[in-house]
Amino acid sequence: MSSSRVAKVLISTEQLNQRIREMADAIERDHPDGGEIHLISVLKGGFLFMADLVRAMSTRVTLDFIALSSYGKGTSSSGEVRLLKDLDSRIEGRDVVIVEDIVDTGLTLSYLQDILRARAPRSLRAACLLSKPSRRQVDVTVDYVGFEIEDFFVVGYGLDFDERFRNLPFIGVLEEHL
Ligand code: IMP
Ligand code: MG
Repeated sequence: MSSSRVAKVLISTEQLNQRIREMADAIERDHPDGGEIHLISVLKGGFLFMADLVRAMSTRVTLDFIALSSYGKGTSSSGEVRLLKDLDSRIEGRDVVIVEDIVDTGLTLSYLQDILRARAPRSLRAACLLSKPSRRQVDVTVDYVGFEIEDFFVVGYGLDFDERFRNLPFIGVLEEHL
């Protein structure tokens, strides 16, 4: 096992909490009709964002999980996306919001939007905690972005490096990636 260490806190727990509350408000404002908002979190990176986002929302929330693989081990993209675990329930006619940890190249999100759109939800939006615009390879629409960041490989708050650091309560940068 490598001895990676977090060198720097990029986004603190307080900043995350505040921004996630704002994102929850924005999502609720965009769904004004009192209907149900169906959140779909992308495992594993989106699990903490999902947990905090739903707790910042007042009512009307249902949720589901999907698992995709985009990166293999380490920090380089294989450019290939696979469906590892499908949703439990149908989304036809529902108001769906994808809950993603980070949009990097955009390949994962655009693949996910394609397969979900084919299932005919009433609306389909995407909420991503982090975005690295400078890395984009495909033009993908993200309705709610928490923080735009530079091209650093980040860990924590759900995001991993070789499956480690997901449990950090903040977003950090590893020493070797500074
Ligand atoms: P994309 O398909 O290139 O947009 O990559 C999306 C996925 O790559 C995310 O859901 C993450 O799992 C992973 N990823 C991208 N950038 C980072 C990073 O800086 N740290 C950890 N994981 C990342
Ligand atoms: Mg990952």
